[in-house]
Parts: sequence; C-alpha cells; structure tokens
Amino acid sequence: MQTNYQQIIDDITSELETLDNPGRVASYIPELAGVDANKLGVHLMTVGGNRYSWGNSEEKFSIQSVSKVLSLTFALQVMGENLWTRVGVEPSGTAFNSLVQLEYEQGFPRNPLINAGAIVVCDALITQLANPKKDILNFVREISGHKKIDYCPRVFESEKRTGFKNYSLANLCKGFGNLNNDVDTVLDVYFHLCSIEMTCSELAQTFLFLANEGKCPVTEKQVVSSQRARRINSIMQMCGFYDEAGEFAFRVGLPGKSGVGGGIAAVHPGKYSIAVWSPKLNEKGNSYQGIKVLEAVTTRTQSSIF
Ligand code: DON
Repeated sequence: MQTNYQQIIDDITSELETLDNPGRVASYIPELAGVDANKLGVHLMTVGGNRYSWGNSEEKFSIQSVSKVLSLTFALQVMGENLWTRVGVEPSGTAFNSLVQLEYEQGFPRNPLINAGAIVVCDALITQLANPKKDILNFVREISGHKKIDYCPRVFESEKRTGFKNYSLANLCKGFGNLNNDVDTVLDVYFHLCSIEMTCSELAQTFLFLANEGKCPVTEKQVVSSQRARRINSIMQMCGFYDEAGEFAFRVGLPGKSGVGGGIAAVHPGKYSIAVWSPKLNEKGNSYQGIKVLEAVTTRTQSSIF
C-alpha cells in the first residue's frame, strides 16, 4: 500500500501546533535573531518525484550548517579521498563550535560537519579552485536544480562581525598547520557557505541525490557515485547533529543535517528526502520542532533506516 505522506504530515503538524515549543531562536548571529520564531515548513520529496508540503515550505531561510554536507560533497568531487588527510569521519560528541577537542587533537577536526571540519574543507577548496565562492554556489545551484539559490549578504556580514568562535577554531587549525590559506580568506568562504538560503522544497530537492544512490531524479544528474552517497549518508548519521547525533539516530533513524537557522534535511535512502524548518532550537542548537516532526514521520510510517 502506498504511504499517504500528505495525511501523515498534516496530522503531525496540526498536533504539534497545539504543543508548547520551549526552543529558542539562535541569537549569537544577530541577523538570525530577527527571524519569526513561529515559522514551520515541511517538504517531503520521494525518489519517484512526488512532493508533499506543509506550512512555510516555500519561504527562504538560512540553511547554515546544512550547507556543510554540500561543501563536503563538492570537496570530495574536487579532490577525492585526499580530503581525509585533512579531516576525520568520527562523531565528535561535542558542540558544533567546540574548541576543546580541536586543541586536544592538534587541529585535526573529527569530521567535516562540525564548524572546524567545514572550515578545513573550505581551506582545501580554496587551495584547489580559482573562484571558490563562485564554484561552490554553482555546484549548489546545479545539484539543486535551482539557478537562483544564493548567499545572503546580511547573514554573511552578521557572522563576519560576530563569529568569534569560528575565528578561534580557524586560528587553532592554522596554529597546528592544518590551514594552508589565511584565516580571513578561509572564513570569508566559510561564512558565505553558512549564509546560503533555500526554501524547504529547494532543500529537499537538493538532498534527493543522497536518497537516490547519488543521482538527482529531477535533473537526472549523477552527482556522486552510489558508494560516495552511502558514505556521505554515514557521516550525516554519525555526525550531523553533533552531541545529539545518538539521540537523532535513536528517535528519528535517518541520516540528516541540522543548521542553527532551524532547518534540517534528512534522507531515507531509496525512498525520500525531507526538509523541515522551525527556527526555535533546543539546547544542542538543533531545531526543536524539526526533530519532533521527523521523529513523528518515521514513527508513523514505521520506517527508519534501522
Ligand atoms: O558557524 C556557525 O556557528 C554557524 N554559521 C553555523 C552553525 C550551525 O548551523 C550549527 N548547527 N546546528
């Protein structure tokens, strides 16, 4: 029997609307603090091309760290497995911007989905490419099938002014010899990467290749090999939610990635990709309601990857 995703999403969201949301909008990036906390958007897209939406699913938001999956995918395309000489694939079990572990492990970030890891990935891309910001954006536009996806200059400026911990992380990597370019040059690319804006429907379509053995069914483009798609999914599963990755695997059971803008993208390989946006975050910096929606989706469809 075919799963009635629309009915399931409608039921979940109407139930959630009646419940308290104790989360808080990210305020350490001033531009994000002004976002309407009550937004809630959901978009699920099957590998067969069916789409199911709810709420503010056509409104742009700052995808923030969700973009770290895209920079990872691009860096693997540009430099292949050599990337793993610069960054690991282990879960960090620490906050996304933690300095302690990076110091202890001598500037070698645990994985590409924590801030330090994404900063090193940006550094690797800068070394390889003449126009890294342009090339990253073109790559994202190509795999998403949306030519108008762009950086948000206001969010970029806001982070550049207040990204003190990211300056510390980049300096620590540099001090340990794991950053080849200037700290300012690397953070310019990193802050741009974080400022990418998408709607839930754009984000779900962008991640669909990871649910479909590396090929986007809409653009028909083979973005990565099926083996690489599985590997990227394994990194999302283990590392996508920082010190909440175990909880996310336990409750939701899908590879996914969160961002402090309140967005989450997750995939069920062979079935669908789903993007959720709700700006209020839990204490780990992940969308409070976003996780609730995803937990309810996999519970009601009785399917996680496990
Ligand atoms: O660098 C930062 O702190 C932000 N631009 C991104 C962090 C983030 O999205 C963490 N995710 N939940």
